[in-house]
Amino acid sequence: MSSIQKSQIEAALGTVMEPDLGRDLMTLGMVQDIVVDEAGNVSFSVVLTTPACPMKEKIKNSCIEAIKAAVPGVGSIDVNMTSKVTSSCNHHGGHGHHGHHDGNGHHGGHGAPQKIELEKVKNIIAVASGKGGVGKSTVSLNLAVSLAASGAKVGLIDADLYGPSIPTMVGLQDARPEVQNNKLIPIEKFGVRMMSIGFLVDPETALIWRGPMASSALRQLITDVDWQELDYLIFDLPPGTGDIQLTLVQNLAITGAVVVTTPQEVALADVAKAVTMFRKVGVPILGLVENMSWYELPDGTRDYIFGRQGGERFAQANAMTFLGSIPISSSVREGGDSGVPAIIARPEAPTSQAASRVAGEIARQISILNATCNAD
Ligand SMILES: Nc1ncnc2c1ncn2[C@@H]1O[C@H](COP(=O)(O)OP(=O)(O)OP(=O)(O)O)[C@@H](O)[C@H]1O
Ligand SMILES: [Mg+2]
Repeated sequence: MSSIQKSQIEAALGTVMEPDLGRDLMTLGMVQDIVVDEAGNVSFSVVLTTPACPMKEKIKNSCIEAIKAAVPGVGSIDVNMTSKVTSSCNHHGGHGHHGHHDGNGHHGGHGAPQKIELEKVKNIIAVASGKGGVGKSTVSLNLAVSLAASGAKVGLIDADLYGPSIPTMVGLQDARPEVQNNKLIPIEKFGVRMMSIGFLVDPETALIWRGPMASSALRQLITDVDWQELDYLIFDLPPGTGDIQLTLVQNLAITGAVVVTTPQEVALADVAKAVTMFRKVGVPILGLVENMSWYELPDGTRDYIFGRQGGERFAQANAMTFLGSIPISSSVREGGDSGVPAIIARPEAPTSQAASRVAGEIARQISILNATCNAD
């Protein structure tokens, strides 16, 4: 008969820090279902704040080491790593939550358009860039697919009304969503629920929309869709910082923005505009992704076609987190054209690995941000 007590396990796990949240797992309430059997074998669950947590293995190993060090004679240690994604601090939906009583804010009034509310969506991520063609749609799609592959519930909105590209990138040019109870059912592919104007009208129709009409079409892509519960809803924004982008970021409770750039000076000059837009309207910036950072030659050496580390320097100079670099690869472009994202077609390729590291980094930044309001 083992004399190991549950309290010994709790004490040991109370010394394991969550590296990003700066507190121990017990205090954070991340440990559940501790069981010690008669032979001294231990099992428990660790509930992470995202299934895409890049620290998963590290935390698991720290738990095992802490118990081994503090509990002599312990048998096997079985750690079940699970997750429950935390909600954005500006999330107004949810269970039994009756909203704020601050008396100002999201009732609109004064002729301001009403804020869009998505009750079942925990986090909204806007992917933006100052300049076109830097890889926003590619980054958005790979982010969505990667988070979904990790086990999260993910939606993706192609907010580019004039040049929707997601339908082609996932090989669904001819897909048309069903309507149930007056709501559009998102098209699901690669584990991601997607909506795009490209699923609804032909490109010529969208081209004539201007101003309010474009804004209301975009609003419908968000609110007239039955998203179901989502951990992350990703917005692939159209390039630039025009009216459509501004209206959207003002009217939607965005958790945070991801800004995409290439390393060139011109792209960086434009990215500053996007950063200014988000800061002006108070949307937190999760960080900067540098795409097309280098070209990998067959012998493994890197050709920095557009210059080196421009994105990282920009992020540093502007007090933003650098979320990672994604190299140029023909498999990414082919993936975009063929309808199967590179991250699915060639998960082992350096670009795919880089893209999933970026996805983990974004999920991590969201967890850190959400911890500021879910703290106690
Ligand atoms: N890392 C990469 N390696 C190779 N090709 C890439 C990479 N990233 C993007 N591309 C290619 O570059 C082109 C532009 O990418 P994408 O459509 O994602 O950019 P975007 O910023 O969304 O453009 P837009 O401003 O038109 O919306 C596409 O053909 C895409 O396949
Ligand atoms: Mg695009």
